[in-house]
Amino acid sequence: MSQTTVREAPATQGQQASGNELEIREEEEATAPIVVAENIHKTFRSGEIEVHALRGVDLTIGTGEMVAIMGPSGCGKTTLLNTLSGLDSFDEGEVTIEGTSLADMNDRKRTDYRARRMGFVFQSFNLLPVISAVENVEMPLLVSGVRPAEARRRALASLESVGLADRASHRPMQLSGGQIQRVTVARALVNNPALVWADEPTGNLDVGSSTEVLGLMQRLNREQGRTFVIVTHDPQVASLCGRIVQMKDGEIVANE
Ligand SMILES: Nc1ncnc2c1ncn2[C@@H]1O[C@H](COP(=O)(O)OP(=O)(O)OP(=O)(O)O)[C@@H](O)[C@H]1O
Ligand SMILES: [Mg+2]
Repeated sequence: MSQTTVREAPATQGQQASGNELEIREEEEATAPIVVAENIHKTFRSGEIEVHALRGVDLTIGTGEMVAIMGPSGCGKTTLLNTLSGLDSFDEGEVTIEGTSLADMNDRKRTDYRARRMGFVFQSFNLLPVISAVENVEMPLLVSGVRPAEARRRALASLESVGLADRASHRPMQLSGGQIQRVTVARALVNNPALVWADEPTGNLDVGSSTEVLGLMQRLNREQGRTFVIVTHDPQVASLCGRIVQMKDGEIVANE
């Protein structure tokens, strides 16, 4: 929120720098790539049918950027997120994340890297209905071996950061749509990820809830320098992003 908070985040690299130097460093950080994708091709094959879903995609995401990916249904947006984040394979090209090529990581290393550095706000990773908000949020930590007491502490802190500390013991069906979506954001952020992938994070939300979730992501981007890549059909979402990447038929057709 305040300038001070914004400046303090990157200051771990040098405490004594003047405001000016920090601003320059922030700019440098903002332009250092966190993801570089070159000539990505991906074809789905099921029986006789082949879908060439990604046709030579080149995309660079700078550290600390908030990027929107837009385009008509079926143009390859979800496929792009899945391949760039290492959730799914691709046939050709190279993806480098924080300087390491996905091809140089084995499955275990990729999974491990995702658990440590990435967060996901995907509708296919919905909340489990039978457990509480805080139990849903702490799940990724427990899976990656964090001790239960520590996982609970961090999950509560993450819920607090999305304004839902007082709903920790509610189950998803005892929450509003916007609150559910904020819990998924809390879960995506609980491991303190450098990079958050979101696939239509406001897809099922009314305007009010959507504004809430967006404001939250924008704040985390600005104050904590987290990188967001957000697939969206929603012009309101796109207008808050620093850059809009337009896709069509498996290709990037505009990037500004
Ligand atoms: N597992 C799969 N097997 C076969 N074809 C697939 C698979 N997943 C996606 N496709 C096809 O690949 C293309 C791109 O799909 P994708 O899900 O990336 O689109 P999208 O841009 O996310 O669309 P939407 O906006 O509707 O979510 C589509 O034509 C789709 O039918
Ligand atoms: Mg999709």
